[in-house]
Amino acid sequence: MSLRVLVAGAAAGGGLPQWNCNGSNSAAFWRGSQPFQAATQSCLAVSSNGSDWALLNASPDIRQQIMALPQLQPRDPSRYGLRDTPIRAVLLTNGDIDHVAGLLTLREKQAFDLVTTPVIADVLAQNPIFDALDPQFVTRRTIALDQPFALIDGVTAELFAVPGKVPLYLEGDTVDTEVVGEQTVGVELSDGASSVFYIPGCAAIPDTLAQRLTGAKLVLFDGTLWTDDEMIQQGVGQKTGKRMGHISMSGADGSIAAFENLSVTRKVFVHINNTNPVWRNGPERAEAEAAGWEIAYDGMEIRL
Ligand code: MLT
Ligand code: MN
Repeated sequence: MSLRVLVAGAAAGGGLPQWNCNGSNSAAFWRGSQPFQAATQSCLAVSSNGSDWALLNASPDIRQQIMALPQLQPRDPSRYGLRDTPIRAVLLTNGDIDHVAGLLTLREKQAFDLVTTPVIADVLAQNPIFDALDPQFVTRRTIALDQPFALIDGVTAELFAVPGKVPLYLEGDTVDTEVVGEQTVGVELSDGASSVFYIPGCAAIPDTLAQRLTGAKLVLFDGTLWTDDEMIQQGVGQKTGKRMGHISMSGADGSIAAFENLSVTRKVFVHINNTNPVWRNGPERAEAEAAGWEIAYDGMEIRL
């Protein structure tokens, strides 16, 4: 038994290609050339024993992800019965649509734990559509920050606050994009021997977070944008990364620079937006790789 993580969806909200996007990365797919692999929206699967899995975030693409990944499919009916899934828990790192919409796909009276902070539990409770998850089957577990807990057989987890914002659908007139609390969390996963950090959304890297990550064996981190204004520059949107609650990869205040002296053995960008140039071979990807980063892809599996 060892910790295994499986990137079920490497892309940020929208996926790659995005349904209504003709930005250069997405357009390549619509125009028939496929210079790189398409990617589904943000989800990481984790297991220690290979038969029980937890999903970290419930992507709108969850059905497609299960279709693509035998590890997540119903097992032998002679042993497991007519209704089965190896997915034993779903943990949410925030309430964003790309992380919660997949819950609605999991509504067919199947037992699993739905694990969230108290604030995200309230967000779900206030949206009656999530009542489609029958409480006789789906156990909502509310977890306090900074307290290790058993997530699934063989895997403990701990949630910790990282800077972020409320979900898009809860934004008011003014938005604090660097709230530190239960809205946006990172997760440390451990099997007792090794641990992994998963932080798919993060607005900034304060010293406390840098200290927590120092010396880690593996960190999967928010790779939404390469530059803060790339959506504006590419003419596909008005928002900056900062406004969306995401630190960018490049630049003096970017994540690549912030990780430079943290001695993290393996660094992987996840939650990558379809506008990000690192999807394709080019100078930006080369710069990230030269700094020791890997660019996640759907189906990427890492065993510790
Ligand atoms: C984000 O990561 O900023 C959100 O997923 C954006 C969205 O909800 O579309
Ligand atoms: Mn997102």
